[in-house]
Amino acid sequence: MLKYLVETYGCQMNYSDTERMEAYLDALGFIPTKDFEDADFIMFNTCSIRQKAEDRVYGQMKKMGQLKKQNPNLIVVVTGCMVRKSSSRYSVDRDKLFVSMPSLDIALNTDELPQLAKLTREINPNLKIHEIEEESLEDYFYITPTHTSHQSKAQAFVAISNGCDKYCTYCIVPYSRGREKSRSIESILKEAEGLVENGCKEMTIIGQTVNSYGLSQHDEEHKTFEYLGDKKPFVHLLEELDKLKEKGLKRVRFTSPHPKDMSDQLIDAMARLETQMPYLHLPVQSGDDRTLKRMNRTYDTKSYKEILKKLRKKIPDISISTDIIVGFCGETEEEFNNTYSFFKELAFEHGYLAQYSERQGTTAAKFIRDDIPKSVKSERWHKLNELLKENSRNALKRFKGKTVNVLVESQEAKVCHGRSEHFKTVQFNSGRKLIGEIVPVKITDSKQWLLEGELV
Ligand code: SAH
Ligand code: SF4
Ligand code: F3S
Repeated sequence: MLKYLVETYGCQMNYSDTERMEAYLDALGFIPTKDFEDADFIMFNTCSIRQKAEDRVYGQMKKMGQLKKQNPNLIVVVTGCMVRKSSSRYSVDRDKLFVSMPSLDIALNTDELPQLAKLTREINPNLKIHEIEEESLEDYFYITPTHTSHQSKAQAFVAISNGCDKYCTYCIVPYSRGREKSRSIESILKEAEGLVENGCKEMTIIGQTVNSYGLSQHDEEHKTFEYLGDKKPFVHLLEELDKLKEKGLKRVRFTSPHPKDMSDQLIDAMARLETQMPYLHLPVQSGDDRTLKRMNRTYDTKSYKEILKKLRKKIPDISISTDIIVGFCGETEEEFNNTYSFFKELAFEHGYLAQYSERQGTTAAKFIRDDIPKSVKSERWHKLNELLKENSRNALKRFKGKTVNVLVESQEAKVCHGRSEHFKTVQFNSGRKLIGEIVPVKITDSKQWLLEGELV
């Protein structure tokens, strides 16, 4: 039996894709292993968002040469956002990764997963792999994922779209994942129902710009969602998922929404639906209008503020987190200071801060100079990170003395970790096995990033 290992980098979307890749490899008759030395088939599901993410994969590829000396039959696959063209080392028209990765056997575009069997046969025609109806698979969403990203069946990712049409000037995603395409409501609900029947309590629905579900150019051309009239397809989906509470679903989260598609309808639905949680991760990227323009983010600070105002009015206690890029091309001291003040004013409770990393092929790389020195990017990052720590610490204080419901994600010895309704990490002790349970915890103390409490 051939043994496989998939190593995943990047965002939740990649982790979700890995679950489909595992299901596909299981269907071919492979069995999973966690040990590189033991594997006959190693797949790297890669991320391209920053140079650092790619460098980690190049580091791993160096080790593959060594492993191939021990096991000459080892097949090495690179998939995910670094790949542009599905091809094998024998293809005439190969992905350019083959030049920089001498140990590479197969490069696979994520959404062409059903081609993996064919490419594997090109590498080794003698391999005994099961026949599956790969040609009949229209796209990779039809493969039911293994749902192994979480420790328990109580949590699951469900991908609802792939690709992005927004073309932010700094971002590689529209090039790596292609045009935005939405999965059908029926297919999503079928997967979701199956998960809930199997014990899922918290579902995180994911897409590059998850709240533009059903609104992409591809979706409009195919008129798939026309029957909904004025109702936004994403809102319709949230309503349909909310009905699964009757079968045991408690929480529906989504990531990452784009500010442009934060409609009033969606804000209403978040306030109204029982399975919606008082938390939103809404990437802003910059708190300066000129920078936002250069980034092609299609909103300004005023309209972003307006969204938060509406959200906070309808869901008074909502926690908001965000993403920021510092040191984008041409970012002046004044522009950065605007971002800093904006972060403070809007009281973001958490955030992912990134230093701008130029990506080949993007509009920024072609037309705007990456002119902020590394040392300045780093300085700005640290300055904002100090503020982030302060914001997080302040935001957590309000939970002291309150009882929150925690979905337990991990438990080592007696120490349990999980997330509250507001997506805050909560730590408490229990002698009972609690992974996958939602339990009430009284908060006794608040730290910089987490809450401590006692089981009620
Ligand atoms: N679709 C989401 C973001 C997906 S990428 C959105 O529109 O917000 C995840 C995060 O990576 C982004 O929010 C951004 O902060 C960061 N990022 C993307 N491209 C980057 C680049 N070239 N350099 C540094 N950070 C980047
Ligand atoms: Fe990238 Fe912008 Fe699309 Fe987000 S919305 S994936 S940042 S292009
Ligand atoms: Fe990375 Fe691709 Fe996600 S570039 S962040 S893995 S969409």
